Amino acid sequence: MRPQDDWGLIVFGCFRLPIVSATAQILPMQQSLAQLVAQAHQEAQVIKTRAEMEAFKARIVGPNGSLTALMKNMATLSKEERPVMGKLINEAKKSIEDLLSALLLKIEDAEISATLGAPLDPTLPAIDSPAGQHHPLSQTRERILATFRKLGFTVAEGPEIETEWHCFDALNTPADHPARDMQDTLYLPQSFQSADAPRRGQEALVLRTHTSSVQVRTLLNRKPPLRIVAPGRCFRRDAVDATHSANFHQVEGLWIDHHVTLADLRGVLDFFVKETFGPEAEIRLRPSFFPFTEPSFEMDLRSPNLGRLSNRWLEIMGCGLVDPAVLKNCGLNPEEYSGLAFGLGLERIAMLLHGIDDIRHFYQNDLRFLRQFA
Ligand code: DAH
Repeated sequence: MRPQDDWGLIVFGCFRLPIVSATAQILPMQQSLAQLVAQAHQEAQVIKTRAEMEAFKARIVGPNGSLTALMKNMATLSKEERPVMGKLINEAKKSIEDLLSALLLKIEDAEISATLGAPLDPTLPAIDSPAGQHHPLSQTRERILATFRKLGFTVAEGPEIETEWHCFDALNTPADHPARDMQDTLYLPQSFQSADAPRRGQEALVLRTHTSSVQVRTLLNRKPPLRIVAPGRCFRRDAVDATHSANFHQVEGLWIDHHVTLADLRGVLDFFVKETFGPEAEIRLRPSFFPFTEPSFEMDLRSPNLGRLSNRWLEIMGCGLVDPAVLKNCGLNPEEYSGLAFGLGLERIAMLLHGIDDIRHFYQNDLRFLRQFA
């Protein structure tokens, strides 16, 4: 290339500078400018941090920068040369600005990637995130309900805040029964109203002490024959210890038909126990008393597979044939219908199934405990 060429080109990297009519002053300036830009592009390649970029920027366009110095030299040019050189300097400045913004983007990208860590490969198999699971009490409840479904029972529910009538009177539990004592039952203030359990007159509302109240609600709402199981939360004024909790769970059972007998009761409970604890488990009905059943029994379970509780009779639920007074209270004729009922504690069953020795584990939400039931 001949230096005298008008608008010849000095080519470097991605930047081209036209060479204009050469005079003694402008030619070296053009060359320095071209060199400066070329060098900047080269240096930029190794810049990694903001600090390096700032220093780099200062070296070129700072007060003592190379481009700034070149611009000051403009004064030495002739009047005709100045606009030509001015244009070239502007282009060079633009090129440096573009270079700096590209550099900044590159640095920002690197900073973001550094905080994000290694890039993700979406085709890799996922790291197993801990899957949620049901609480051991929910697992036990579902297992129990599934067993009774096999016998044609369906699930029924009732309110946790219950009227005294549904919880006690209708179930043949007289006003002087100890269960109705303030010491045993949690009563709600007289001013409290519940849409699910409207009061009759001045009667009290209680936190239900058992799920037997669902027997009453079912009998009032449905016509026999019926077979229901009612799982739910119950409340008593109990001091909390390894086997007592003021808040616990029961599953109630009720079967009403024309000729329900003790043989049915035994059959249903034996099936439940064998399904739950294995075919070697046996049951025994021991006479007892509940106001809402006649006769009443405690059902004991014995199994060789219960760890240190193996081969011992263990009391696990109350049961009996529905007392005729309960049927009458719910508008049924005891001559026409009979029934069986039972009520078991969910915690008790779960504790036996899993060898848990303290009821409080169920309510503490300690993941070390809960994860054992995944
Ligand atoms: N409701 C009783 C309790 O909480 C348990 C019970 C006993 C339920 C006998 C019944 C039954 O249905 O027949 O202790």
